[in-house]
Amino acid sequence: MQHAHIDIADPSQRPRTPGRTLVGLLASIVVATSIATTTGRTQQGFPPVPVPPGNPITVEKTLLGKALFFEEQLSSTGTVSCATCHRMEAGSSDARSFGAKSVHPGIDGLFQTRDDVRGSRGVPANNADGSYRDVRFFGLSEQVTSRRAMPVVNAAFVPEAFWDGRATNDFRDPQTNVVLLPNRASLESQAAIPIVNDVEMAHFGVTWNEVVTRLGSVVPLALARDVPTALAQHVAKGDYKELFRLAFGTSDITPARIAMAIATYERSLVSDQSRVDDFERGNRAALTAEEQRGRQIFGAPQTRCIECHGGPLATDNRFHYTGVSPQAEDLGRFLVTQQGPDRGRMRTPSMRNVALRAPYFHNGSARTLEDVVAFYNRGGDFNAPNKDGRIRPLNLSAADQRAVVAFLRAFTDPRVAAASAPFDRPRLFTESSDVPFFIGSGTAGSGQHVPAFVAYEPASIDRSRLTLALQGGHGGSPALLLIDAFGDAQGKAIAGMTLHLGLSPAFFALDALVLQGTGPGQGYASMPLRLPSDPSLRGKEIYAQWVSQDFGVQALSATEAVRLRIF
Ligand code: HEC
Ligand code: HEC
Repeated sequence: MQHAHIDIADPSQRPRTPGRTLVGLLASIVVATSIATTTGRTQQGFPPVPVPPGNPITVEKTLLGKALFFEEQLSSTGTVSCATCHRMEAGSSDARSFGAKSVHPGIDGLFQTRDDVRGSRGVPANNADGSYRDVRFFGLSEQVTSRRAMPVVNAAFVPEAFWDGRATNDFRDPQTNVVLLPNRASLESQAAIPIVNDVEMAHFGVTWNEVVTRLGSVVPLALARDVPTALAQHVAKGDYKELFRLAFGTSDITPARIAMAIATYERSLVSDQSRVDDFERGNRAALTAEEQRGRQIFGAPQTRCIECHGGPLATDNRFHYTGVSPQAEDLGRFLVTQQGPDRGRMRTPSMRNVALRAPYFHNGSARTLEDVVAFYNRGGDFNAPNKDGRIRPLNLSAADQRAVVAFLRAFTDPRVAAASAPFDRPRLFTESSDVPFFIGSGTAGSGQHVPAFVAYEPASIDRSRLTLALQGGHGGSPALLLIDAFGDAQGKAIAGMTLHLGLSPAFFALDALVLQGTGPGQGYASMPLRLPSDPSLRGKEIYAQWVSQDFGVQALSATEAVRLRIF
């Protein structure tokens, strides 16, 4: 070893290695304790919610489903619930889709090209033992769905869920494939899918038995904050076994019951109170003059918007190709039916709460409602023989387009925008200040690659598991995970790298390991840790930083540091 100061290979140096558990460190922290609708036509009234006869709505089942919908412990990493990608305030779609980390590269596999999709972030690729995998496109970062999230509000009225309608209205037991509910059960079919999907919520090779066992062992909503009163009172009645007993009569947790409870909760998410509704009921003052003009244009023969987006639900729930993207990029309905005319067809989204739901379209390609209306005005962007004939240049003036946008904004239900009942919700761990907090910046290794600290998971003693990882290092190099009870935002220069840890007496290092991957910028590692379930640790903070010896320049490279707050 040519470098000075910290020698990774020399055990007599400062870092101590108590093994892959944090018990030793946490013990020292405890000792120290100083740590710190209807448009145009007549209002037909809102339809009743379709309910499959085999899954009747009850209060207990709705509340169980609500707990499960916001339950981040349903995911293998403790970081993703249904609500992570379906935020009420965002019209129950995903405003994170605007962010640089929520991009899927599309079918060309290249980022920053036209076919990129603004999707939703799920879990980093992970294994049953908690380690992370380096996967195509995303590395150890959170994987992104290849379509934009659709709303769950009013999804109760959707006959076949998803952009391509692949969630069928018969519900089969996810384990036995026996039909449990023959019809009206698209929500049940849908709800079972993300929980075992390794992009959205699960680890590779997950089984339903594992999901059920995990749910049976956790404190309901242990990771959630500010749980609304009625929900908090309900989950306080016991563990999930008890909540399933209250909902279904016996305490068995089964995949089918999970799906049935979530679907029942979703049936309570009915949004039918917007200014458009007031207007259609006869309150002419509910819409401004411009909005009323927009309403007329929306229903006019010139645009025919209403033919696809009409009725109380503001959608025909049918599938059309409208030229949003070339069909080869996403075959849409064709993937389900294999019928030629269904190529590229997507289900019409409802206009209810549309203003809350940007970005738009199945690929998130339109940033604003203005962009959407401009898209229609130019007759769509791509063509194919089965493109709907109503999508053609409309010759709307700028003022007309503004009026249509104004009208669409009047579809917002203020209860959805404010996440008030029945759309009220807890805050998620990932929205809290307990998420891993990054400090300072890393030090580059050879090839100027700065290794990055990868940390998403909650340092929760209820969960007891926590994976910390590194990516962008030099493959094949040795690396150490350093841990301290103190952090140092300024950083200290040591051996050509910046150390952001305090070097307190509680400072120590976990086992040295060799980065997987080959070459500069390609190295990665992950370390699944166990947190002791000691309640006195709640509120304590620990700091961590990865250091790696870089063969290229025979020096140390380092990540930024991360602060973890134990709760
Ligand atoms: C990682 C993000 C993510 C997570 C987690 C997630 N969803 Fe979704 N959801 C999506 C995306 C993306 C779509 C659209 C996918 C498609 O059409 O192919 C979608 C579609 C849906 C739809 C269809 C709505 C319609 O109108 O057809 C429903 C319902 C839904 N999700 C409910 C849920 C439930 C319930 C959960 C939890 C069990 C969940 N989602 C978890 C991203 C997510
Ligand atoms: C032929 C049926 C049809 C007509 C006519 C139509 N739309 Fe659409 N609309 C759709 C479909 C299908 C989508 C989804 C397309 C996609 O994502 O690929 C959509 C998407 C939208 C969206 C985005 C919603 C979201 O959540 O992403 C808005 C807004 C919209 N349409 C408004 C309009 C307006 C305004 C008009 C009239 C100028 C109109 N539509 C005419 C079928 C139609």
